Amino acid sequence: MQQVKGVIARAQGAPVEVVTINVPAPGPGEAVVQVQACGVCHTDLHYREGGINDDFPFLLGHEAAGIVEAVGPGVAEVAPGDFVILNWRAVCGECRACRRGDSQYCFNTHNTTQKMTLEDGTELSPALGIGAFAEKTLVAAGQCTKVSPSARPAAAGLLGCGVMAGIGAAINTGAVTRGKSVAVIGCGGVGVAAIAGSALAGANPIIAVDIDAKKLAKAKELGATHTVDSSQVDPVEAIAEIAAQFYEGAEGADVVIEAVGRPETWKQAFYARDLAGTVVLVGVPTPDMKMPDLPLVDVFGRGGALRSSWYGDCLPTRDFPMLVDLYQQGRLDLDAFVTEEIKLEEIEAAFERMHHGEVLRSVVIL
Ligand code: APR
Ligand code: ZN
Ligand code: ZN
Repeated sequence: MQQVKGVIARAQGAPVEVVTINVPAPGPGEAVVQVQACGVCHTDLHYREGGINDDFPFLLGHEAAGIVEAVGPGVAEVAPGDFVILNWRAVCGECRACRRGDSQYCFNTHNTTQKMTLEDGTELSPALGIGAFAEKTLVAAGQCTKVSPSARPAAAGLLGCGVMAGIGAAINTGAVTRGKSVAVIGCGGVGVAAIAGSALAGANPIIAVDIDAKKLAKAKELGATHTVDSSQVDPVEAIAEIAAQFYEGAEGADVVIEAVGRPETWKQAFYARDLAGTVVLVGVPTPDMKMPDLPLVDVFGRGGALRSSWYGDCLPTRDFPMLVDLYQQGRLDLDAFVTEEIKLEEIEAAFERMHHGEVLRSVVIL
């Protein structure tokens, strides 16, 4: 066991605190990772606000990269000294999804058996089973994916959550390729990552839609060829018009990615796609939201696919090393997602800036 600094949410809505936590030595199948960088995500704030569950205190932080310090018995996938990105879905290899070769859908992902605790022994609930706003964290070895050790930790770590969700929504769930038109509705961290992923795949045009001009400017930096301010114009018409300039007869975009998580914007996505196109829902709705009122004949008549994208349908072992390599070759600008580097003590202020949409990502450097 060792003691390190970590950031916890002790009670619903209370400001986060930097405290001393106990990190057990890794048991079978576990690893201790020395965290180098961890991004601040909406989900951390959501935990603090009690929006995920009531298992306070939470050890926050989950978009992280670091160095494996120690591994427990039976760990073969990583070794001390490896530079890794943490993921929140260590797959089981045994459930029905894993057995049929679809382990990105694993129905039985796992985390550690042992618990990190406060000094008085109170068990901590690590955010998404990671808890990386801490100098060191205990995770399941399967949550560690080894990547090129020369990558900048602040940039690489972002692949652990929101950026992977966006890129994966485009390249995995939406199957975006060259020769296809893409529209992305909502250009926060997830949406601009979907734009960067679409650019990487060679899509053209790539149409960014948002109600905030600042977000649209960022979307252009990351590869959007066109922008639509949907507070000013009807996005469905605008997307169809742009798509038709590129592909004669197109009635919309081939792939429309919804990265807001609301019925209204999902409905826009539904009607903004071309016949037989694909809608990808990567924005996360709240439990009270209902499917918009749609004539079933429109669902049938337009054909195509209505898909949802969970964690970008990623397979960390396949996607993380590949995307880090593309980043290092200058083909994927992960640095553009790092708005600022901050200290563990500055997370509460970073939540405030994130809440006001002022940053793409604040990244804690340890
Ligand atoms: N039309 C278009 N864009 C909108 C609308 C709307 N009606 N409402 C909000 N937006 C834009 C915001 O201006 C912002 O740029 O959607 C974007 C949302 O971005 P963030 O709040 O930064 O969220 P992000 O981290 O990108 O996540 C987006 O994906 O993972 C999920 O839970 C996450 O549901 C959330 C979504
Ligand atoms: Zn996240
Ligand atoms: Zn499984």
